[in-house]
Amino acid sequence: MLAGSQGRAAQKAMQILVALGEIYGAQYMIPVSSAQIAGVSYDNLGEAGLQFLSEMADGGGRVRVLTTLNPAGMDIENWRNLGIPPDFAEKQLIVLEAFSRMGVTTTCSCTPYLTGNLPKFGEHIAWSESSAVCYANSVIGARTNREGGPSALASALTGCTPEYGYLLTQNRNPTMTFQVNAQLAGTSDFGAVGKLIGEKIATCKAIPFIQGIPSATLENLKSFCASLATYGGTALFHMQGITPEADQFTSLGEKITITQAELQAAIHSLNDTLETEVDFISLGCPHLSIQEIERISNLLEGRQVKKEFWITTARATRQLSDRLGYTHIIEAAGAKFAADTCCVVAPIQGRFNAMATDSAKACYYASAKHKFKTVFLPFDEVVKLALL
Ligand code: F3S
Repeated sequence: MLAGSQGRAAQKAMQILVALGEIYGAQYMIPVSSAQIAGVSYDNLGEAGLQFLSEMADGGGRVRVLTTLNPAGMDIENWRNLGIPPDFAEKQLIVLEAFSRMGVTTTCSCTPYLTGNLPKFGEHIAWSESSAVCYANSVIGARTNREGGPSALASALTGCTPEYGYLLTQNRNPTMTFQVNAQLAGTSDFGAVGKLIGEKIATCKAIPFIQGIPSATLENLKSFCASLATYGGTALFHMQGITPEADQFTSLGEKITITQAELQAAIHSLNDTLETEVDFISLGCPHLSIQEIERISNLLEGRQVKKEFWITTARATRQLSDRLGYTHIIEAAGAKFAADTCCVVAPIQGRFNAMATDSAKACYYASAKHKFKTVFLPFDEVVKLALL
């Protein structure tokens, strides 16, 4: 491949991986079983990114393993109803067409593990969405570095990755212990504690070993992963009694304690305006599970929302929702599905004043990227606010 015998795109992809391997001192190239590519929204890619993808597709690029995409900048079917400009939509469709020509499964989701891209424990993969990387490494026990979009595509096109970082057993050991002495009630609390721990390890890049959390649902963990990755740049943690590799480890001497008061302060820090100021509601960062959509449907049945309300999820989950009748109930209430996309990667800068969400990650980017004010509430409270 490196010599070009399998086409220009495979050669370019292998050049990227060899360069990475040399930088990080990898000894081998090893096979991966799947890839997940971030940097799909035209809002993030721009013309340079689109040109790179087109060159790879024109150069005969063809994926060798199951490859899925992160959210795009718009719902591929329902973009007009979400107010996406036609010129943006045209560019976004060209991006997706380039991926499609390379054989990528154009499911655009940051929870690929909910919709068919689900690695097994110990499997090597090349994923790039930070929350999904953290989930795959920590909750599933698969092994991936936090790839960039181009290196994940390079792995997809070659079927391999240089063996370094989190692919090696010795680099997966925890390096700092956290004791959570706070009650975590739902996704927002898990997001807030992810922010707290993330901020404490952001500079030292520790792998946290977390104790004191008695149970966590899939939804709690995906919220926690998104937050820990956003605020700490973390790609791996171990949670005692919950994640699969945690049993191998014990507390590492000194513990950092997370108190209820700190949790409340973290929640408070994500609220920078009043609920009365909110003109945009978004749930689904990371993308919603079908159980979360069922919950929204139950809360909205027979009622009317009073604000722009986006429900962001994978296309396949939306289709399940259609079949279960939730979509009908939710849309009858005036809320909008935004499948394939999310409130962060969609081009909505300046469109709203303040956003309410249960996601600490969404608060970070809505503020930093879109300049929205944020109101951070428990899941059910977000839905109830949409009705006021
Ligand atoms: Fe997913 Fe978008 Fe949040 S990619 S994790 S919904 S910022």
